[in-house]
Order: sequence, then C-alpha cells, then structure tokens
Amino acid sequence: MRVRIGRLELRNPLLTASGTCGYGPEYAGVLDYARLGGFTTKSVTRLVRPGNPPWRTVEVAGGMLNAIGLANVGLERFIAEKLPFIRSMPTPVFANVAGYSIDDYVHVSGALDAAGGLAGIELNVSCPNVAQGLMFGTDAAMLREVVRAVRGVVRNGALIVKLSPNVTDIAPLAAAAIDAGADALSAINTYVGLAIDAETRRPLLGNVTGGLSGPAIKPLALFNVHRVYREVARAAGVPIIGMGGVRSAADVIEFLLAGASAVAIGTALFLDPTLPVRVCESVRAYLDRHGVQSVSELTGALRLE
Ligand SMILES: Cc1cc2nc3c(=O)[nH]c(=O)nc-3n(C[C@H](O)[C@H](O)[C@H](O)COP(=O)(O)O)c2cc1C
Repeated sequence: MRVRIGRLELRNPLLTASGTCGYGPEYAGVLDYARLGGFTTKSVTRLVRPGNPPWRTVEVAGGMLNAIGLANVGLERFIAEKLPFIRSMPTPVFANVAGYSIDDYVHVSGALDAAGGLAGIELNVSCPNVAQGLMFGTDAAMLREVVRAVRGVVRNGALIVKLSPNVTDIAPLAAAAIDAGADALSAINTYVGLAIDAETRRPLLGNVTGGLSGPAIKPLALFNVHRVYREVARAAGVPIIGMGGVRSAADVIEFLLAGASAVAIGTALFLDPTLPVRVCESVRAYLDRHGVQSVSELTGALRLE
C-alpha cells in the first residue's frame, strides 16, 4: 500500500483534504491517524482571519458549496497552539498555506518549514493576488513566480502545489508549477459556484459565491488529474495527489488509474470522518482481488487501447 510523494514514503495512498478536518485535534479519537497515508491542515495565512459571514456552507445536489473565507488562527498561533499536537500525530502532516502576495506565501511557508514537525507544505494558490487582482492559480506566469519564490524557502519538507480547476486548461498551470520546482501537485481545488433561494431571491451563501465539492465534481476532477498526468506530470516524474468527490475505494482506484499517486478525501468526511480508514481496507481488498502487488502499479494504468 506504500506510495511515494517526492522523497516521502506514505504508508498508504489515503490522505485528508485541506479545510475538511481542521488542524488535527478536531478528529482525534474519531479518525485513527495512524492508519492514514497523510493529513493536510486547513489553510494557514500570515494573519488571523475571521472568514466570511454566514452561511458559509450549503448542501447542493451531489455535493456542497463552501465559502469559509480562509478563516484560520494565523501563522503565529498555528505555530504556538497547533504545531505541538501536529508533531504528535502518527502520520505525515502537510500544512496548507494561503496568501495574498508572494511575500505572504514565502513568509508563511518559510516559517512553517523551519519550525519542524511537518512533512511538507501544500500551496493553496486559489487566492487573489491583491496587487494584481488575478488568482495566483489561474495565471501561469504568476504561479511560476510564487512557486519559485516559495521553493527557495522550503528546504526540509515536500513542496506540493494545489491546482485550481477554474481555468480553461489546467496543463499549462501544472507545467508552470513543476518548472518552478514543485515536488508534487494536488488536483483539484473546488469549482466556483452559486446557490440561490428562489423564495427570497437571495444567494444562499453570505459570500454570494462558493466552491463546489463532493461527488458532483468527481468526473471533472478525474479529467483534470488525467490531463495533468498525461500532458505534464508523467514525463516530469512528479506525483499527483488526486481529489474531488471521493467516497469509496472504487473512486480511489479511478483516481489512481487516471494518474494520481495518492488520493485525498474531503467533503465525504462530513458524512463519515472514519471513511478513509475503511476505504483504505477496501483498496487493499481490490489489490488482492486483482492480483496487484503494489498500489503504485495502478498510477496511470488506465487502459486506453
Ligand atoms: C468546507 C471546505 C473547506 C475547504 N477549505 C480549504 C482550504 O482551506 N484550503 C484548500 O486548499 N482547500 C480547501 N478545500 C478544498 C478541499 O481540500 C478539496 O480540494 C475539494 O473540496 C475537493 O475534494 P472533495 O470533493 O473530496 O471535498 C475545502 C473544501 C471544503 C468542502
């Protein structure tokens, strides 16, 4: 069941997705961290953020929309209050980092990498660059610049770049991230969406728009993982952490076949926080049933002829 993400070896391919399981203490005693391949924290920003006004989440057909607004405790309190627990977790932990300028990303990533106790940094580039208005993750030149700058300060852990699907073609963004030194890519973040209450004629989310996640986006996520793998990541030897609507072992296998080396579960944790452990056992049973020696053999093994 072991998989490689850069220099790291994970005990199995199942991770949690950022923003769906807090910083670690929230699911302690419910989800057995020792049986996860890895854990990803909620996004951390330079300063504390209260987040968006309610409602911040709403259920829609096939998934949910969220507009949390990156509510988090900020870098200083993350290091003082959250990192001690994270260091005790029996699984590799990736800190997800968000920012509004290149300096933000560099400052937070460098401080976290230097603090010790993390397996790596996952860059959430689905944030607007305040200076330019564009999202870091939707402009290849800007993405290359931020990843290159962060690469210079992430020396101990892995550097994972989390790709946004809100682009016409994800491949040039993946290429930019790899070119700038990413050790791994994660794909995908949420799709921008809107939910409306016809009775009140108002948006259901306080922020008006939000990010769509859950089973509704699974075929879109599979397509993006496959495209990144075939166009860029396979040739570069850069692993992909696939995510988007995963609920079952079959979903995990599908992401691996599309080109992922590991797979994260997000929205489905809200229904069942223990799901990754059971899904992991079912993936193992699939390997036995199909005579597959190592789960990594499935990466990119989609049959196209
Ligand atoms: C409530 C919620 C909060 C999220 N917060 C973050 C976040 O802080 N940073 C981030 O990079 N992704 C965040 N995500 C995106 C997830 O990590 C994941 O990329 C996406 O939801 C697709 O996976 P899923 O369909 O299994 O949830 C969030 C998703 C949800 C549902």
